[in-house]
Amino acid sequence: MGLFTVNHPVIEDVLAVLRATSTRPEEFRRLTRKLSVLLSFEASRDLPVEEVEIQTPLENTRGSRLAAEVVLVPVLRAGMGMLDPLLEIFPDASVGYVGLERDEQTAVAHRYYLKLPDLPNRYVFLLDPMLATGGSALAAVEALQEAGARCIRLLCIVAAPEGIQLLEDKCPDLDIYTTAVDRELDERSFIMPGLGDFGDRLFGT
Ligand code: PRP
Ligand code: URA
Repeated sequence: MGLFTVNHPVIEDVLAVLRATSTRPEEFRRLTRKLSVLLSFEASRDLPVEEVEIQTPLENTRGSRLAAEVVLVPVLRAGMGMLDPLLEIFPDASVGYVGLERDEQTAVAHRYYLKLPDLPNRYVFLLDPMLATGGSALAAVEALQEAGARCIRLLCIVAAPEGIQLLEDKCPDLDIYTTAVDRELDERSFIMPGLGDFGDRLFGT
């Protein structure tokens, strides 16, 4: 498994505002979009390209076009905040959905929805901003693998060491791209220092 922590002064700046309790949902959504775009560039660095001939207004030249079929899979509901920015980068991507919700007492994820396009031979970007215990991401990855996905990369905004460890143990082929690895989980399995409940902050619930 590969763990890629994307470091950049702009990311640090955005994360500092995103974490603050005083940040309202409208700004929270805007900052989530910004981080998602920054993450997507790192997570797509190795996508295949093909050379093409181009006629500019002045002469013929060569360029390259993306030669990868991309599938975006947001984990409902917080992953929805990452979908639109990723569609801006990959407008031809297909989109699948996985609905997962953690039990508030046990933190065990329960799947309530799954709708996926064709996955074999495609590059699957799993979008979930929070990787805490890793239970949700593991359930999502298993659902994608059952549907034939082979090349999966998880894009998250904040990850906890516990979730990273679980995925390292259970999903050796998975690549994780994150903007932050935080300290630990608390007794309710919230990420510390984290930013609270991402879905609640995104949607104002
Ligand atoms: C959050 C988050 C992840 C999950 C991470 O979703 O979006 O899916 O928790 O926690 P885990 O790594 O311990 O599984 P939540 O279950 O709160 O659902 P929501 O997005 O609908 O609020
Ligand atoms: N899900 C969240 O939204 N936040 C956490 O800290 C952990 C799981």
